[in-house]
Amino acid sequence: MNPVHPTAREDTVGLWFCPNDGLDQPTSALLAPHWLDEHERETAGRFLFERDRRQYLVAHCLVRRVLSLETGIPEAEAVLWRSSRGRPFLQAPPGGLPDGARDLDFNLSHAHGFNVMAVARDRRVGVDIERLDRGGERGFDWVVESFAPQERAYLAGLTAGGRRDRATLRLWTLKEAYAKARGLGLGLPFDSFSFELDEEQGVVGFRPPEGDDADRWCFVELNPRPQVLVSLAVERSRDGSAPGRIEMHDGFPWGRAVPRDIPLPAPHRALAPLVGAGA
Ligand SMILES: CC(C)(COP(=O)(O)OP(=O)(O)OC[C@H]1O[C@@H](n2cnc3c(N)ncnc32)[C@H](O)[C@@H]1OP(=O)(O)O)[C@@H](O)C(=O)NCCC(=O)NCCS
Repeated sequence: MNPVHPTAREDTVGLWFCPNDGLDQPTSALLAPHWLDEHERETAGRFLFERDRRQYLVAHCLVRRVLSLETGIPEAEAVLWRSSRGRPFLQAPPGGLPDGARDLDFNLSHAHGFNVMAVARDRRVGVDIERLDRGGERGFDWVVESFAPQERAYLAGLTAGGRRDRATLRLWTLKEAYAKARGLGLGLPFDSFSFELDEEQGVVGFRPPEGDDADRWCFVELNPRPQVLVSLAVERSRDGSAPGRIEMHDGFPWGRAVPRDIPLPAPHRALAPLVGAGA
């Protein structure tokens, strides 16, 4: 096995952002039959549109490449299993994962030509990526119906148009990132928890769904490209510590380019759970 990422630290969360352009079509088509497992190959074969297949292949080559860099397990040998709700996990090989890769968690998101993957140790992560320029004629107002009353009221107070669309998509990606970290996805009612946003400071308040604790999580928002929004939900580790460092990698990781440090979020206001609202 190759050595594990030399800078891997227990408290580092890695974000790996990769546009589809980061892995050209002939290369992804060449790698896919060797790197992807049967489930991934079957899924790739089911897409009706070539652009969707291409997105899937880049995203899944990215997952396998990053897991290989993080664990030393060759891309084709990583065994992925999926929960009953479809959340993928890395299965430890018979001898166990190397020290620096124990308790590794990861999450993937892809949308309209962009992919992002989050990796952490000893804590759960969830990530979501969306594009502001893909609202179409309907805009983003329709997603607001699924939000909590406090969020709907906040959005109603913003002028319709760019500012409200951005706030809507920020809330949407935060909700998805949290729901994906929990492994529940859209199975978690989006009105059962809520965020308070500040335009400069990001998430300033979080009201979790019943049964969860607002202090357990921290949230990061990023714009890796002007119209691209990424939200990350990171759990505190088992000993209660927040992540010590968040690193952003850009492009397909053939080598080990130096990542960019992302400022750690300030603590948010922990609001009491919404009792009786879901989850
Ligand atoms: C997870 C979910 C929110 C994804 O939403 P999305 O915005 O369309 O897609 P994203 O690009 O952000 O994320 C997709 C990736 O999330 C991961 N994922 C899938 N299910 C997940 C879950 N329950 N929790 C966390 N991550 C999940 C996968 O890696 C998936 O990529 P892949 O399909 O290429 O492997 C949505 O598909 C969902 O709610 N799934 C759960 C469905 C369910 O409960 N099924 C029950 C049994 S059928």
